[in-house]
Amino acid sequence: MKNTSLKSWQGITCVIGLDWGDSGKGRLIDDLSSRADIVARYSGGSNTGHTVKNKYGKFAMHIMPSGIFNQKAQCLIGRGVACDLESLIEDEMAQLQKAAISWKNLIIDEQASLTMPWHKLRDGLREEFRLKKIGTTKRGVGPTYADRIERVGLRIKDLMSSDFKDKLFEEVKIQNKFFNLKLNPTQIYRRYLKFSKLLKPYVGQTIPIVKNAQNMGKNILFEGTQGSLLDVDFGTYPFVTSTNIGVIGIWRSFNLHPSEINHVIGISKAYSTRVGAGPQPTKLDGEKRQIIIEKGQEIGTTSGRTRDPGWLDLVIIRAAAEFNKLTALAITKLDVLTGFKKIKVCTSYKINDKTVEYLSGDAQFLAKCQPVYKEVDGWREDLSKIRQFKKLPKNAQNYIKIIEKLVDVPVKFISVGPNRGEVIYL
Ligand code: GDP
Ligand code: IMO
Ligand code: MG
Repeated sequence: MKNTSLKSWQGITCVIGLDWGDSGKGRLIDDLSSRADIVARYSGGSNTGHTVKNKYGKFAMHIMPSGIFNQKAQCLIGRGVACDLESLIEDEMAQLQKAAISWKNLIIDEQASLTMPWHKLRDGLREEFRLKKIGTTKRGVGPTYADRIERVGLRIKDLMSSDFKDKLFEEVKIQNKFFNLKLNPTQIYRRYLKFSKLLKPYVGQTIPIVKNAQNMGKNILFEGTQGSLLDVDFGTYPFVTSTNIGVIGIWRSFNLHPSEINHVIGISKAYSTRVGAGPQPTKLDGEKRQIIIEKGQEIGTTSGRTRDPGWLDLVIIRAAAEFNKLTALAITKLDVLTGFKKIKVCTSYKINDKTVEYLSGDAQFLAKCQPVYKEVDGWREDLSKIRQFKKLPKNAQNYIKIIEKLVDVPVKFISVGPNRGEVIYL
């Protein structure tokens, strides 16, 4: 990988968020998908919000793979995705239809779980009753996965079967009773019957498609969601989402072992952001916070909440790089840091003057960590037209080199604007 440019990537590649999501995965997938034969979503649900800006317009994808704009690639939604059909059909397909983008190459795995109206209601209710709120997106993702693990969730396969009505009515009865809801099964049935007719041509078995493509040496691009610190095991429980968002998620969706992946690209902004509750050691306040929110337009793609910005946290990035065995780093939004006289980067943590490493799965521990910073000089030049690393201002080059050195993974992609192609390949 060391000497390979992502511009000419080949084989099996995945994109994984490193800290708390919203790092530009949608745009990276859109940029890389021109070489993909397959683009596959393997985790998350409509909590995901992937922004793509290209010649067709600006889009917010939640369930639909961000590779859908490469009409030659087959787009897959794996069994590990929580399928919110209200989002997929009424929002995302509507966005695509408006821009005359076809989804004829889409296949949704028949084993994928359905996010149903009761999951969204339960997500909201649970959050209301939590003493310490997680700040979920209320998209029903946690309850969808909980029901799958409990073996009571409906799947795409059920929606397509002739006894869907019976299954649905039975489940609504149970949900109403257990959770004191007032759901009307007939109304839900009518809506989902429409969905099932619309989706029928796009339902199939995705695992053999991936296997065949792999055997034929085709290029497969896996689109991750969220970020490692939101992984249900690796992240700061309970301030996490409800799935494995790293390489294990690919295995769970597509039976493809992590050792079969050629390029594992970890993606982070040039700074950090977090939306929802939970510790963020490098969180900024004051004027710098406002500058980053405004310049970076740090408003959540899914929930419209303001994201909390912080300096780049290399302790977390290093831990996530090790956890996912990254082969390359993608750093986005470098342009947003333009204009800062000094930029800080967190290189280690201390608790009571003792240096500590990130401890997986422990929110209380991370909340106690004090960041230790390295301060570097910033730059003033506009980066948006730069396409070669050596043309970047020296201080921006230096910033990237520090990241590369401290994480010990080569930076292979830098973005300097939100649009397709506003990138530097190394
Ligand atoms: P994702 O969830 O990882 O796909 O990221 P989001 O789409 O939720 O958030 C990333 C935001 O940053 C989106 O609004 C993108 O359009 C924007 N963005 C991505 N890359 C860049 C970049 O290099 N520069 C700037 N200024 N904006 C970017
Ligand atoms: P993308 O793919 C940022 C956060 C929520 C909340 C926590 C749990 O766009 O990077 P959930 O609704 O999953 O139960 O919420 O996880 N969260 C995200 N934050 N980007 C995302 O996805 C997120 N998906 C979930 O804000 O803190
Ligand atoms: Mg997002």
